Amino acid sequence: MFTIITGSQFGDEGKGKIVDLLSTNYQIVVRFQGGDNAGHTIIAEGKKFKLHIIPSGILSQSRLLVGPGTVMNPEIIVSEIDNLAKSNIKITPEKLGIDAKTSIIMPYHIQLDELNEIARQNKIGTTKRGIGFAYIDKVARDEIQLADIIDKHRFKQRLEKLLPQKKEAIASFGGDSDKIDGDWVNRYIQLGQTLKSYITDVSYEIHNALEDGKNVLAEGAQGTYLDVIHGTQKYVTSSSTIAGSACANLGIGPTRVTNVIGIVKAYITRVGEGPLPTELGGKIGDQIRKNGGEYGTTTGRPRRCGWLDIPMLRKAINLNGYTQLVLTKLDILTKLSPVKICTGYKLNGKTLKYPPLQTHELANVSPEYTELEGWNQDITNIKHYSELPGAARDYIQYIENVAKIPITSISLGAGREQTITKDKI
Ligand code: IMP
Ligand code: MG
Repeated sequence: MFTIITGSQFGDEGKGKIVDLLSTNYQIVVRFQGGDNAGHTIIAEGKKFKLHIIPSGILSQSRLLVGPGTVMNPEIIVSEIDNLAKSNIKITPEKLGIDAKTSIIMPYHIQLDELNEIARQNKIGTTKRGIGFAYIDKVARDEIQLADIIDKHRFKQRLEKLLPQKKEAIASFGGDSDKIDGDWVNRYIQLGQTLKSYITDVSYEIHNALEDGKNVLAEGAQGTYLDVIHGTQKYVTSSSTIAGSACANLGIGPTRVTNVIGIVKAYITRVGEGPLPTELGGKIGDQIRKNGGEYGTTTGRPRRCGWLDIPMLRKAINLNGYTQLVLTKLDILTKLSPVKICTGYKLNGKTLKYPPLQTHELANVSPEYTELEGWNQDITNIKHYSELPGAARDYIQYIENVAKIPITSISLGAGREQTITKDKI
């Protein structure tokens, strides 16, 4: 079985917890795009783990893979491995494999990301992790791959050509190009030696696993609307985040896909700039942010919060081809009565049931809402769907009716045990 799981909104839908739970049924969990701009929080046995590049699933028996379509900061992955070791979670080469072709995020990518963001009049609000510039180098065929940093001579030879260009680019932004002369090159060579034993051919491993009848879970980072092609450009990340991207980035044909799971948060959040039609200013927005802990895992920035947006969900279902949904953080809506759902938009006197094509149009829509009765009862310890308050079930049913695909699980809190099943996944 080959399952793809992606966020249906702007990331931070709670994928980490769901992947962690699902991973007990999957022999392999693999990341297919993005880098340490992502942040997953997993809470297990009372401990909180914040991961940026290692796939969720550290606590299960599954093997974890980082695919060649990702961009990886070697310093970050090595520090994640070291930090997990402190909690007695050993990330050995038997547990983790990284594709030899994975792009390496270089210090100059991070410097350029920062400088570019400062220079922009209309900010994107990037995570300043060098993601965009690492992907630029991939497309420009100037990338450094993991295989390059483990070969000291090849690495130095590549840098001889690249560093003068990078210095020029940094200087043209008014940045300090002397930083490039620092001693990070030897550190990268060292990190390459640490990571050498993790190298694998991700596509081949997945194919072999599928041939052997094993289950593989491809985990997306960020969310549908941060997709570089189909998202809210230019306020997007630099990779394709939708389900089809898993096939291209992992080298797995679409014929191998069994199912595609979409994660939907019971409300919507966005971190960074760009349109968010249902954004809530004021008290309700603050309450959702506070109760939902809606602060960026990677940057600590407060997330913008809004009501669930059905037109965006409709498009996300189309873009990803979801076969089922998982609804997360329903508990955060407790005591917010009435609960609103955006059912459509008004734009230039017209009613839309689907997001308009262009980002600037999405920024100008006025959302139309339906109001549903809320619930006041604490739902965080509920174990069966039938025990949920009627109003909470109505909320779930409403989403299912418009989505026309089943909501198979509902998450009612951060803990693994705070998850109820509606239909079997
Ligand atoms: P970048 O990916 O750092 O280039 O940032 C581009 C945009 O994507 C910014 O608005 C970021 O806040 C947003 N972004 C990147 N990664 C994540 C994520 O994992 N969750 C939510 N937003 C993200
Ligand atoms: Mg996140």
